[in-house]
Amino acid sequence: MGTSFRSSTSSLFALASLSLIVSTVLAHVSIDPTKGFEILPFNKSYYHIQKPYDVPLDQRYSFVHGIHKCWVYATDKPHTPTSKTKPRTEIAIGGYGYSSGVWQFEAYGYVPEGTYGVNIMQIFGGDPPHATTFMLRVYNSSLFYYSRQALVADIYNRWFRLNVVHDVEASKVWVYIDGALQMEADALGEVDPTEGFENLPFNTSFYHIQKPYDVPVEKRYSFEGGIHDCWVYADDKPHTPNSRTLPRTEVAIQGYSYSSGVWQLEGYGYVPSGTSGVCIMQVFGATHPRATTFMLRDYNGSLSYYRSPVLVYDIYDKWFRLNVIHDVDASKVRVYIDGELKIEANDGGGTFHAFKFGVYAQKDGSSLMESRWKDIKIWRK
Ligand SMILES: *[C@@H]1O[C@H](CO)[C@@H](O)[C@H](O)[C@H]1NC(C)=O
Ligand SMILES: *[C@@H]1O[C@H](CO)[C@@H](O)[C@H](O)[C@H]1NC(C)=O
Ligand SMILES: *[C@@H]1O[C@H](CO)[C@@H](O)[C@H](O)[C@H]1NC(C)=O
Ligand SMILES: *[C@@H]1O[C@H](CO)[C@@H](O)[C@H](O)[C@H]1NC(C)=O
Repeated sequence: MGTSFRSSTSSLFALASLSLIVSTVLAHVSIDPTKGFEILPFNKSYYHIQKPYDVPLDQRYSFVHGIHKCWVYATDKPHTPTSKTKPRTEIAIGGYGYSSGVWQFEAYGYVPEGTYGVNIMQIFGGDPPHATTFMLRVYNSSLFYYSRQALVADIYNRWFRLNVVHDVEASKVWVYIDGALQMEADALGEVDPTEGFENLPFNTSFYHIQKPYDVPVEKRYSFEGGIHDCWVYADDKPHTPNSRTLPRTEVAIQGYSYSSGVWQLEGYGYVPSGTSGVCIMQVFGATHPRATTFMLRDYNGSLSYYRSPVLVYDIYDKWFRLNVIHDVDASKVRVYIDGELKIEANDGGGTFHAFKFGVYAQKDGSSLMESRWKDIKIWRK
C-alpha cells in the first residue's frame, strides 16, 4: 500500500532538538521506492490542517495549483489552546492512520531559504514516551533525521522528491531523497525531554563555583569558549574548612533553587579518560540523612545512577547530552542521555533542591577528576 501525492513542505519553526536512534547511512542507490506498492486515493477527505489555534487557516496555509504551502511563526500559538507543543502548520493525514503493514509517503517538497529549526515531515506515533517514529527536519540549509544525522545538504529553494517508507512489523523506516536511499533507521522515534518546558535565563548570576577552600578558583575551574571545565584532586581539601565531605569543584545553580514544580537541567557533558569514582552532576537536596536526590557518577568511563545501575557505557572523551528532570510533586527523577530515557527513579524527598555539575569525589576516586560542560539550559514546567 502507499499514498502518493505532491505537496510542498509544512513549516514549523523552532522545534527543539534532541536525539538518539541507531541508524546507518547506506550507499546511494537509485531505485524506485514505490515498486511493489499500491497507490491509494488521496484528496482532502484524508487530511486536515493543524495550525495555530487562534488564527484563520488562510493565514497559515494555501493550496494553489496543486501546491500545499504551509507556514508558521516562531511566536505563534500551538494548534490547540491546551497543547504545550511548539507552533505548527501541518497536514495531518488522519484518513490513513495505521498500526500495521508497510506504508509509504511520496511527495515533492520545497523549503525556502531562511527556514530552519523545523520539522517538515513526520511519522506521528511511537511507543511511549516517543511521540513520533520519524522526523525530517531542516537545520543549516540541510535535511536532517531529527537533529542527529544530516541527510542532504543545500536543500533551499529547490524541489526534492521525498519517499518515506515505514514497515511497521519490521520496525524500520527508509528515507529516499530524489530516488536515492539516504537512510535506514530503526523506527524507535525520539523523545524531546524539553517539550512543554519553559527555558529560563542562565548566566553567571545564577550559579557560583564550589572548590577546595584553600586554592583560588582558577586553579580548579575555567570557563572558555562556552565550556565549563571543572577538575579536582583526590587529596584536595573540601569546599569549606569545616566540611567533612570529599573534595569537589562544582557549579552550583543556587539561583534556581526550588522546592516544588518540575525542573530540568539540560547540558552537554564530557569526561576525559582516566577520571573515575566521581559524581559529575547532582540534584542537591533530600530528606535527612540523604543529601542528594540524584547523582550521576562516572566509574571507569561508565555513567551510573549513584553506584548502580550503569546508565551508559564507554563515555570517555566524547560529548553526551544530558537531560535530568526532577518532578518534585510526583517525587520522580527522569534521566535522558543522548535523548534516550535511561532511568526513572524516586527522588529523595526534601524541601530544598538545586542542580550542580562538575566533579565531586566519591570513594575510590581517581587521583585527578575532571568533567567539562557546555550549552547548559535550565527549564521549568
Ligand atoms: C476522495 O476520494 C475518495 C475515494 O476515491 C472518494 O470516495 C471521496 O468522495 C473523495 N473526496 C473528495 C472530497 O474528493
Ligand atoms: C548549525 O550550524 C551552527 C554553526 O555552524 C552549529 O553550531 C550547529 O551545531 C549546526 N546545527 C546542526 C544541527 O548541525
Ligand atoms: C543574567 O540574566 C538575568 C535575567 O535575564 C539578568 O537580569 C542579569 O542581569 C544577567 N546577569 C548577567 C551577569 O549577565
Ligand atoms: C575501575 O577499574 C579499576 C582498574 O581496572 C578497577 O580496580 C575498579 O574496580 C573499577 N571500578 C569499577 C567501579 O568498576
